[in-house]
Amino acid sequence: MRRINLAIIGGGTVGGGVYQALRRNGRLLASRLGVQLSVTRVVVRDLAKRRPVSIPPSKLTTDWKSAIRDEKNQIIVELVGGVRLAHQIVKQALMAGKAVVTANKALLSEHGQELFELARKHQTNLYYEASVAGGIPIIKVLREGLVGNRINYLYGILNGTCNYILTRMEKEGSGFAGVLEDAQRLGYAEAEPSLDVDGLDAMHKAGLLGSLAHGFWIPPEQIHVEGIREVTALDIQFANRLGYTIKLLATIRPTAKQGVQISVCPTLIPDHHVLAGVKDVFNAVYIGGDVVGETLYYGRGAGQDATASAVVSDLADAALDLVRGGESRLPAFVSHVENGSVFPWEETVAPFYLRLHVIDRPGTMARIASILAEAQIGISSIIQPEGHEGDSVPLILMVHDAKIKAMQEAVRRICRLKVVHGKPQVIRVENFEF
Ligand SMILES: NC(=O)c1ccc[n+]([C@@H]2O[C@H](COP(=O)([O-])OP(=O)(O)OC[C@H]3O[C@@H](n4cnc5c(N)ncnc54)[C@H](OP(=O)(O)O)[C@@H]3O)[C@@H](O)[C@H]2O)c1
Repeated sequence: MRRINLAIIGGGTVGGGVYQALRRNGRLLASRLGVQLSVTRVVVRDLAKRRPVSIPPSKLTTDWKSAIRDEKNQIIVELVGGVRLAHQIVKQALMAGKAVVTANKALLSEHGQELFELARKHQTNLYYEASVAGGIPIIKVLREGLVGNRINYLYGILNGTCNYILTRMEKEGSGFAGVLEDAQRLGYAEAEPSLDVDGLDAMHKAGLLGSLAHGFWIPPEQIHVEGIREVTALDIQFANRLGYTIKLLATIRPTAKQGVQISVCPTLIPDHHVLAGVKDVFNAVYIGGDVVGETLYYGRGAGQDATASAVVSDLADAALDLVRGGESRLPAFVSHVENGSVFPWEETVAPFYLRLHVIDRPGTMARIASILAEAQIGISSIIQPEGHEGDSVPLILMVHDAKIKAMQEAVRRICRLKVVHGKPQVIRVENFEF
């Protein structure tokens, strides 16, 4: 049986998981592929570190450059994380003509276009299944399974940490800060949580999915992003009363005018929608294709084993591509739309949830309604809960479809009213009406 050698650069959570999965299922994989995958080197920073997954000391090294240079290694797996070092590793490996597997969405989001081009130039390939939605094979779905479809919509819950925090806030009625602290203690959130809770991790993933689905490169700076720090227990409670739940949702939709709408932001989604049932650390991607109709993909978006499963699937593809030769290789990313563009966020039209704090005085509602009416924004429902103490009371409005620019301007005018106190909360609503 043909043997393909590989080096894993990064032997941490995911790297250790990949080593373990290959040890556990190596034979099964070989019988399915007709190729044996053999790990020659695992590159780490600290050789003396105690590792939960035992890797023979003879395989451990700190020298990633020689792992790439070694002619035996046909596949290089980049699992160090971060951007600078990972960029150097992937670049050098591609320039050496090696097949490269990575789980690094931040790297691809920033440098993907250059790296895919480099892979093409050196007649090799870059595989990245584990970079989006962990164990869900969503890259394969878009590249292969739905290749015969135009993608009419793609919605994703792409960050497990945010979904875990929002689920607990909903269940327990607790505030963001307390739940975040608890999530950090339990290992569901990083000590430095901003990449997750500010929506950047989901933005990196949305950019990759959007680029694949629509055939032109979408850089991160063109994606509208809002995190979940400002979502309060009160918002979740009111959303529930209105028949909605709040998710950090990635939305990727071609608009009727030219361009693709792409955003990551807290979004009210109807309780009865299948994505509302995605709880805790789980991820889900809901895709509509013009031929296939609606489809749904669900699973663990991170963690050692789920991510390792995706990396191993890339290793299998890379090994088969190497055995079959260049002709059969599916390129990692095919740019097929020449003048693709991102639709400006401010021009996007959507219904909204608006929470204000107002002095409970006759005429307040009329003044707010008249500002909205002047902006041609219609109100669909109002909640003014009883029994709130203090000077001001919450006032919740659901408004019909409005252009974001018009909504922002109307909210600015409303906040200038003396009867309106504090910061308003504006959250997009997605009713999945196509
Ligand atoms: N963790 C997940 O659930 C998950 C899910 C999806 C994607 N990913 C992606 O997978 C990648 C790896 O994440 P991870 O969680 O496995 O990270 P990790 O646990 O921090 O592991 C990083 C590994 O890289 C090694 N390393 C760091 N700097 C190095 C250097 N200068 N030279 C040699 N080795 C070096 C570390 O060595 P030491 O062990 O000696 O410190 C460690 O083994 C990231 O891009 C991440 O975004 C992770």
